[in-house]
Amino acid sequence: MRAVILVGGYGTRLRPLTLSRPKPLVEFANKPMLLHQIEALVATNVTEVILAVSYRAEEMERDLSEEVKRLGVRLIFSHEPEPLGTAGPLALVHDLLCSGDEPFFVLNSDIICDFPFMQLLEFHKNHGREGTIIVTKVEEPSKYGVVVYGDDGKIENFVEKPQEFISNKINAGMYIFNPSILKRIELKPTSIEKEIFPHMARDGELYAMELTGFWMDVGQPKDFLKGMSMYLTSLRQKSPEKLYSGPGVVGNVLIDETAKIGKDCRIGPNVTIGPGVVLSDGCCIKRSTILKAAVIKEHAWLDGCIVGWRSVVGRWVRMEGTTVLGEDVIVKDELYINGGQVLPHKNISSSVPEPQIIM
Ligand code: GDD
Ligand code: MG
Repeated sequence: MRAVILVGGYGTRLRPLTLSRPKPLVEFANKPMLLHQIEALVATNVTEVILAVSYRAEEMERDLSEEVKRLGVRLIFSHEPEPLGTAGPLALVHDLLCSGDEPFFVLNSDIICDFPFMQLLEFHKNHGREGTIIVTKVEEPSKYGVVVYGDDGKIENFVEKPQEFISNKINAGMYIFNPSILKRIELKPTSIEKEIFPHMARDGELYAMELTGFWMDVGQPKDFLKGMSMYLTSLRQKSPEKLYSGPGVVGNVLIDETAKIGKDCRIGPNVTIGPGVVLSDGCCIKRSTILKAAVIKEHAWLDGCIVGWRSVVGRWVRMEGTTVLGEDVIVKDELYINGGQVLPHKNISSSVPEPQIIM
């Protein structure tokens, strides 16, 4: 089987991290977001993954080639000369998707869950119509695509980012389609959510399958951290041996084996520590992601932070409030940072008591 992953878009909501790496390559729980998805697809017998890219394709090719060899999957890069939105990229690989006459998966690249692709395939084959989308329930539906459907799953209405409340069931960004959907899509910038789904719903060709378990669009820092906590909770149930345990560890914590952990640290709950990270003595880290090769100095205190690659957080620093440090940032000793979004390669030498972007 084949799958298309939509990896275009500029990832502006995940800045400053996406100033250094394309969003799908930002490590979520110590693994590029995209790899979580590719691994789940491979487990569902997908042998060809098409990455629909609109920019920074070379970086992705370079960074994924090793992993892809390991997984034994064929990766095909489909370069868009201009961003084609969420449907246009399918038209660009029309011939590939139509060969073989079997359904194919389509995924947004910034979502995380226990991907139920096998179940999706079965559900789709059972109703026999053109498309199935996975839906999930959220508290704040207005920032998603909202779906209204009957007991049998047949979608009556699809509204992208509705202004008024329609339902709290939303498009989780994972689909399976028959090749016949391609008759609806022209080769030009097109939104699948706004221009294709409403028509399919009207024709009775679009079904919804409800997701069980956690789900998160991790394309912005707050949700990234929320998704990380959910992912770790799920990991605790599925493969607790992957979580770290040791003195000073509280709750669910994932630590790469090449990270160095000092004495008397308190880590957790809900922390991921990347490869080559150094946590010095007496650090306290909660609900945070520390990316590759960052250094946290003695007695720093972090809650709700993402620390970018190779950044250095000084002694006795206190950081909280969804602070995000870009790549290679230095925060001097003893400072307080609350909700700062710090651009790559900055040196911070005074406190940031209120949320702001530091350029
Ligand atoms: N190739 C390509 N070209 N990909 C694109 C383009 C493009 O021009 N524009 C966006 N994408 C990719 C993004 O990288 C992402 O993987 C996916 O399409 C969706 O774009 P987002 O920008 O993340 O959309 P969203 O989060 O506002 O809304 C979408 O996801 C929600 C679930 O997280 C919609 O599909 C909603 O209906 C859905 O509820
Ligand atoms: Mg998104």
